[in-house]
Amino acid sequence: MEFVTLNNGVKMPMVGFGTDAANAELTYNEVMAAATEAGYRMFDTAAMYGNQDELGAYLVNSGLDRSDYFLTSKVAQLEQGYENTLQAFKRTTAALQTDYLDLYLVHWPKFEPFFETWRALEHLYKEGYVRAIGVSNFEAHHLDRLLTQATVVPAVDQIETHPYFNQHVLHNYLTELGIQHQAWSPLGRGAVLQDETLQGIATRYGVSVAQVILRWHIQHNVAVIPKSGNPARMAQNIDLQFQLTPTDMARIDALQRGERIMGAPDQNYTEDSW
Ligand SMILES: NC(=O)c1ccc[n+]([C@@H]2O[C@H](COP(=O)([O-])OP(=O)(O)OC[C@H]3O[C@@H](n4cnc5c(N)ncnc54)[C@H](OP(=O)(O)O)[C@@H]3O)[C@@H](O)[C@H]2O)c1
Repeated sequence: MEFVTLNNGVKMPMVGFGTDAANAELTYNEVMAAATEAGYRMFDTAAMYGNQDELGAYLVNSGLDRSDYFLTSKVAQLEQGYENTLQAFKRTTAALQTDYLDLYLVHWPKFEPFFETWRALEHLYKEGYVRAIGVSNFEAHHLDRLLTQATVVPAVDQIETHPYFNQHVLHNYLTELGIQHQAWSPLGRGAVLQDETLQGIATRYGVSVAQVILRWHIQHNVAVIPKSGNPARMAQNIDLQFQLTPTDMARIDALQRGERIMGAPDQNYTEDSW
């Protein structure tokens, strides 16, 4: 298991599990048990996913010690504001049946009161209820705005990233600020998996296209949270013990098309969509 050290010294696994994984043939508990068995020790959830109760129930009965895994959740849009965020944190930790989170993120940047939400996260961090705080879907201008008042620099920015939308400009800015880039939809929700260049590279290394993509992220120092409801694919997605050559890394970089799966953070989201 590879780890990255965040800007406050906390160690975070480079590969985590997207926990809204559905499988028509398996129960939620069976999916999570397969993920644990495959070796995942970081679980990514959010108030918005509506799965915190199920995940919490799974984790307390899993036999894992709380210190054995890294747990991330996110403040939803409608939960923003100072008091609202503190209440949201209480709901989230009650649902997850834990006293603390390893990482708590602001899910989307667009909603006011922008600074108050962050101030609440800083409070939770300084009081020891969360080991690290960060953001999600923040672009450079959102970060610039946040940093005019923040007293804690976000540890992580979780953003859509895959070979067709590689975020290289924002990645460089995050690196400059000391913020860890974490990719959501690291596999492009499957569409990128049909790419011929990636298929050619995968064949040469004797691995799957998904493994090539995830290895490419990691070699760029991008942490990943792939989702799968399929035990064989879950196991594949955490088995990344090979190295891509600089030439193959450059070939994958060149697949950039600027194509997002979801809308840009400032465009597609309304308060109704929370
Ligand atoms: N912060 C945010 O705003 C935000 C937004 C979206 C997502 N997320 C987080 O990111 C996580 C992952 O994102 P995502 O689910 O959108 O996309 P993803 O992980 O890039 O792709 C998931 C899709 O790829 C398939 N897949 C997974 N592994 C595969 C493999 N080895 N070979 C072939 N197909 C494979 C899955 O199907 P099977 O299940 O059938 O394997 C599923 O259809 C989410 O669970 C969530 O935790 C965060």
